[in-house]
Amino acid sequence: MNGTLIRAGETVVAHTDIADRDPGVHPRPGVFDIARHDPAPALVFGLGAHACPGEALARAQFEVTLGRLATGFPGLRTAVADAGLDWKPAAPLHALRTLPLTWTADPGEG
Ligand code: HEM
Repeated sequence: MNGTLIRAGETVVAHTDIADRDPGVHPRPGVFDIARHDPAPALVFGLGAHACPGEALARAQFEVTLGRLATGFPGLRTAVADAGLDWKPAAPLHALRTLPLTWTADPGEG
């Protein structure tokens, strides 16, 4: 596969987060877009027999926490440009090392 020999009986571990990051399937995979509706279903919660039974809870938790952050802290912004974000290389899950933030009490004044 892609230059690597896989012998009969060898184990292959597929990282589903890498599948969701294929720009040929998911346009702009590196962009955080909360309203994303890509043509292909995301594999982050698995699929079929490997579907995550906690998906609805996880999605509800994201909705509540991100919603509370957006409404409770309207002046919250990332402190660095997207290109300056510090991603963990080769992590099983695509994750940031740190997410520097700035916050102004009243975004209308700043
Ligand atoms: C962002 C959050 C989450 C992600 C990305 C996620 C992702 C996944 C994925 C991909 C699988 C399938 C693994 C496989 O079989 O190959 C899985 C399984 C599972 N997840 Fe989640 N999950 C999340 C949150 C949760 C939560 C909140 C719960 C429960 C409260 C949960 C409970 C489980 C359980 C019990 C399984 C095993 C199901 C089985 O083997 O039959 N997950 N999860």
